[in-house]
Amino acid sequence: MKKIEIKLKNDQYNILYAPLSKSIDYIKSYFLNGKTVAIIADNNSAHHYLNKLEKDLLDVNQNVIKIILSPGEKNKDLTIASKIIEDLLSQKFERTDTIIALGGGVIGDLAGFVAAIIHRGVNFINIPTTLLSQVDSSIGGKTGVNTKYGKNLIGSFKQPEIVICDTEVLTTLPKRELLAGYTELVKHALINDVDLFNYLDVNSSEIFKNNTILQDAIYRSSLVKAEIVMKDVLEKDIRAHLNLGHTFGHAIEALYKYDGTLLHGEAVSIGIMMAFSLAEKISLCNTTQTEAVKKHFDNVGLKTNFSELPNSGLTSKNLIKLMKNDKKVRSGSINFILPKGIGSVDIFSGIDEDIIKEVLEEYL
Ligand SMILES: NC(=O)c1ccc[n+]([C@@H]2O[C@H](COP(=O)([O-])OP(=O)(O)OC[C@H]3O[C@@H](n4cnc5c(N)ncnc54)[C@H](O)[C@@H]3O)[C@@H](O)[C@H]2O)c1
Ligand SMILES: [Zn+2]
Repeated sequence: MKKIEIKLKNDQYNILYAPLSKSIDYIKSYFLNGKTVAIIADNNSAHHYLNKLEKDLLDVNQNVIKIILSPGEKNKDLTIASKIIEDLLSQKFERTDTIIALGGGVIGDLAGFVAAIIHRGVNFINIPTTLLSQVDSSIGGKTGVNTKYGKNLIGSFKQPEIVICDTEVLTTLPKRELLAGYTELVKHALINDVDLFNYLDVNSSEIFKNNTILQDAIYRSSLVKAEIVMKDVLEKDIRAHLNLGHTFGHAIEALYKYDGTLLHGEAVSIGIMMAFSLAEKISLCNTTQTEAVKKHFDNVGLKTNFSELPNSGLTSKNLIKLMKNDKKVRSGSINFILPKGIGSVDIFSGIDEDIIKEVLEEYL
């Protein structure tokens, strides 16, 4: 069975590529002495995958508390985290009990945050059910909720005991969500694995039809993220590389006000294209490389420009303003993670605003 071992200074856990139907065999050894497991899910992940997991937990004599939320980013909220904690405490949830996240990145971030703070930290198991959560949010221990001042501004690092990754669960995921998660998968290839990019490119017409290829791609992409978070657990330096396309992407997302017009991964695919164009302008990469990425995104059906989107105040001035609001901005200068070709990136700041404007205007 495939696995990725995440070895940190004070922590160690595995991402195990195993069928959800057998997950009990792999997770039960991680229960402490506690008798209760709380599963946090949303309606969609619960609808498809909760019953079997609940039955398996009951079979190994665990009490099960189910917390099922309506889907959406709105769940990443301090009030909701607090309600969950009260709910759990009212049911005598103890320090040695376990929380399982069964869902996408929203559920994983929220459940991980609850697990980090209830009783000052309890056992946490993550079962990611979206492509984004499998290749990205379940790796590296970041958890948290949003505030009116910005996304993920409250949170904690909380490493899970184990992550169970079953790529078969992606068959029930809506195609649009699958594609949006795929952006992060490709992003990892662009950051540090040119061979993976070539593999994805050769298989672009098959990847969503052939589970073996998708599984392979998820594994290889996750390895890139795993290696980076192992080197920089608390995001002090190279973990920033994971933000390729995100300085532009976050601004684009903010422009559309997170109203569903554009998913995160759809904004980031445009953001990655902009990062390549900017890198080209300052001679970090060449047109052939930018074109190869664009062709790949076009082939799989990811957005590379705004042609099918409403205007929504789309101007270079607005985008630059939004980029300056990004939480990663330090002393007024916008930081960019830019490609130095395919499979290598670096952090750049102090880039002339006129050049950034020029790049943006090519896309408007
Ligand atoms: N912690 C991190 O390091 C990190 C990294 C990247 C993103 N994130 C966070 O992840 C979140 C986005 O995660 P997401 O894209 O997984 O969104 P999500 O959790 O909202 O899931 C997307 C949709 O898919 C549904 N769904 C989930 N699994 C399903 C399945 N197997 N079948 C059918 N439907 C299913 C959900 O109900 C939801 O409607 C954001 O809040 C983002 O901030 C965190
Ligand atoms: Zn992202």
